Amino acid sequence: MCRVCGGAVHEFFDFGRQPLSDAFLDPAGVGHEYFFRLAVGICESCTMTQLIDEVARDRMFHEAYPYHSSGSVRMRRHFEETAQLLLDSHLTGDDPFIVEVGCNDGVMLKTIDKAGVRHLGVEPSGGVAELARGQGVRVRVDFFEESVASAIVAEDGPADVIYAANTMCHIPYIGSIFRGVDALLAPDGVLVFEDPYLGDILRRNTFDQIYDEHFFFFTVRSVRNAAARFGFELVDVERLPVHGGELRYTIARAGRRAPSPAVEELAAEELERGLAAPADFAGFAAGVNRIRDDLMGLLRGLRAEGKRVVGYGATAKSATVTNFCGITPELVSFVCDATPAKNGKLMPGSHIPVRSPEALADPYPDYAVLFAWNHAEEIMAKERAFHEAGGRWILYVPEVHVV
Ligand code: TMP
Repeated sequence: MCRVCGGAVHEFFDFGRQPLSDAFLDPAGVGHEYFFRLAVGICESCTMTQLIDEVARDRMFHEAYPYHSSGSVRMRRHFEETAQLLLDSHLTGDDPFIVEVGCNDGVMLKTIDKAGVRHLGVEPSGGVAELARGQGVRVRVDFFEESVASAIVAEDGPADVIYAANTMCHIPYIGSIFRGVDALLAPDGVLVFEDPYLGDILRRNTFDQIYDEHFFFFTVRSVRNAAARFGFELVDVERLPVHGGELRYTIARAGRRAPSPAVEELAAEELERGLAAPADFAGFAAGVNRIRDDLMGLLRGLRAEGKRVVGYGATAKSATVTNFCGITPELVSFVCDATPAKNGKLMPGSHIPVRSPEALADPYPDYAVLFAWNHAEEIMAKERAFHEAGGRWILYVPEVHVV
C-alpha cells in the first residue's frame, strides 16, 4: 500500500534478499546480518515510486551510522554553495531560523553557523551528529517527525527554511513529516529538499540508487501530488548534477507563492517521457539484468586471466550491486574507502574487505571497479597514478565499460 496516498503499489523489480547497505561488519559479525527483500514499485494512483518492504529506521540510522556527507571535495563545495544560496534567498529577514533534517556531519550547517544565522540540525545518528557539533553546529539527536517538530517550534519558534539533502527520500512516514513541517514552518517559509531523481535513475540505469535507505524515488509529479495532499504546493524545482542527477524541490504553503515555470516544464517533460505508470518501467528490468550479466562476465573473465581486481568506494549503492550480481571477494579482493568507520570492516552481504585508499598502490591492481561512480572525476584525478601505471577503471552505469 502506498505510503503517500494508500493506493495500490505495482511492483516492477525485485532485487531479492539484501543486507542493510551501511551495515559494515566486523569479521566476528558474519552470520548475524539482517536481510530484507529489496523490491520497488510505483503507486498506481499518485505515481510515487517506493520500496515494497520497509526497514525499521533504527536498524539503519544509529550511533554507528558510517556515512559522512563531507567525504568528497565536490559535495563540500556543493553544500557551501547551497548554504550561501539559502542565506541569500530565504534567510534574509530579521533573525531568520533554519532547521536541517538529517544534517549528518554538519557539512551544510557549518556555513550557516559561520554566517551567524540561527539554526538546528536534527540528526538521528549520534556519531555523525557529534562530528557536526565539533564544527560548531547546533544539533538535536532525533528522528524528525511531527512530535519533534512541535517541540522545536515551542523552543525556537517557527522556521523560515526547513532543508534536507538526501534525507527526505529516506523517510517512509511522509504524513508525519508534512504535519511536522506544517507545525514548524513560518507562514511564508519554505521546505527545500534534494534527492536522487527517478528520471535520471531510469535514464542512466543507476539501479544501485535502490537500497534500504532510499525508500522513495521522487519525480516532480509525485512530489507535487504528495505536497498537495498535505496543504502544500511545489513552487520550484531545480536539477542538480550531484550523485548522478538529483532534483531540488521548493515547497511552500498552498497559495503563498507563485510556482516558477520550471515546475510545469519538468512535469510536462515527465509526462512525455512516461515516469508514472508500471509499463514505463519495462525497459528498466532489462537494463539492470544486462548490467549484471555484463559485469559478472567481465569479472569472471578477468579472474580466469589471473588479473587483480579491487573496488573503489564502499558506497551504500555498492551493496545492491555486489549482492544482486553476486560479487564475492574472489572476484573483487577488497574495496578502498577513505571513511574511517568503514576501514577494516567487511562490506554487507558480500563480505569483501574494506581497506584504506593507500592499499590501492600496494601494489596497483590491474582493474578497479568504481563503485563511487558519482565521484568519478574527483577519484580519477586523485588516483591518476593508478591509471598511468596501466590500471583501468571498470564502470557499470549506464552500461559496463572500461576506461
Ligand atoms: P556516496 O556515493 O554515497 O557519496 O559514497 C561515496 C563513498 O566513497 C564514501 O564511502 C566515501 C568514499 N570516497 C572515497 O573513499 N574517496 C573519495 O575520494 C571520495 C570522493 C569518496
